[in-house]
Amino acid sequence: MRGRDTTPQAYAHTPVMLDEVLALRPPGPHPWILDATFGRGGHSRALLAHMGAEGRLFALDRDPQALTEAARLAAEDARVTVVASPFGALAEAVRPLLGERGLDGVLMDLGVSSPQLDDPARGFSFRQDGPLDMRMSGAGLSAAEVIAQSDEGELARIFKELGEERFAKRIARALVQARQNGVEFTRTRQLADAVAEAHPAWSPDRHPATRVFMALRLHVNDELGQLEAGLKAAVDLLAPGGRLLVISFHSLEDRIVKRFLRREAQGAPLPRGLPVRGPAPGIRLRLLGKGQGPSEAELLRNPRARSARLRVAERVAA
Ligand SMILES: C[S@@+](CC[C@H](N)C(=O)[O-])C[C@H]1O[C@@H](n2cnc3c(N)ncnc32)[C@H](O)[C@@H]1O
Repeated sequence: MRGRDTTPQAYAHTPVMLDEVLALRPPGPHPWILDATFGRGGHSRALLAHMGAEGRLFALDRDPQALTEAARLAAEDARVTVVASPFGALAEAVRPLLGERGLDGVLMDLGVSSPQLDDPARGFSFRQDGPLDMRMSGAGLSAAEVIAQSDEGELARIFKELGEERFAKRIARALVQARQNGVEFTRTRQLADAVAEAHPAWSPDRHPATRVFMALRLHVNDELGQLEAGLKAAVDLLAPGGRLLVISFHSLEDRIVKRFLRREAQGAPLPRGLPVRGPAPGIRLRLLGKGQGPSEAELLRNPRARSARLRVAERVAA
């Protein structure tokens, strides 16, 4: 029997909102750009195609398969430098590579890639059976360990806060009861079936375990904490005029991005009554338009783009 092909190139990823990203990329022929979510390099390759010989592309990811693909690209293109790091720690990982210079662009295309979702061995999908893992980098606790080690209250909090699951408490109780009866949750389908059984409100267009799986994935990878830290570090590293482009796929992510950009664009609130004129202190960004979603044409080509939201801002001189 032929084994399943699990090489990095076996699962492809279609870059989302590519035309919009290219239209809003940093101006100038030789930009230095950080792709903080390299994935399979769809955005990176397109950015490189529009970049002169003195441009640089820093290809960052925390997923070993994405990094293998980034190393392959770097071997072909001297403008590419691979950075193996979570983007929450990008300041330490990228600053030493820049010398005195700032970045002209940072792209963050959040969430998981299609190869991560589609490979059952990564444990992200409730549609296919696989080990209950969900770690992008292999570090920290797997989803199976989170389910095994968290008490009922903690599980309910994760499902409620990160998955916005209405029946979080009921599902958490069912999982803990199953554990007490000796069940060990080690497989994705096993967990999906248990959640489905505990879930009282099935909808025709959504698997009942969708929100629980989303919540576990966000928790296992600390995705919202990473986002907060990554956004701040990205702005710290941008040169004046440099652009930050963020694509989010989840309302919790988009809320964090929107609030962060607004805060950085408004600066520190001034005490009332102070006779100060001019812009508030601490303004670091200027918003470039409002958030935008994918075009109808893209949605027809790639339904996975449906919840994407792109927000862009430009660093202003301090
Ligand atoms: C949606 S995919 C990016 C796809 C990419 N733009 C492309 O065109 O192929 C998101 C990628 O970001 C990576 N990622 C997510 N969170 C990360 C984090 N905190 N640090 C580093 N990489 C992260 C994932 O491993 C995944 O490869």
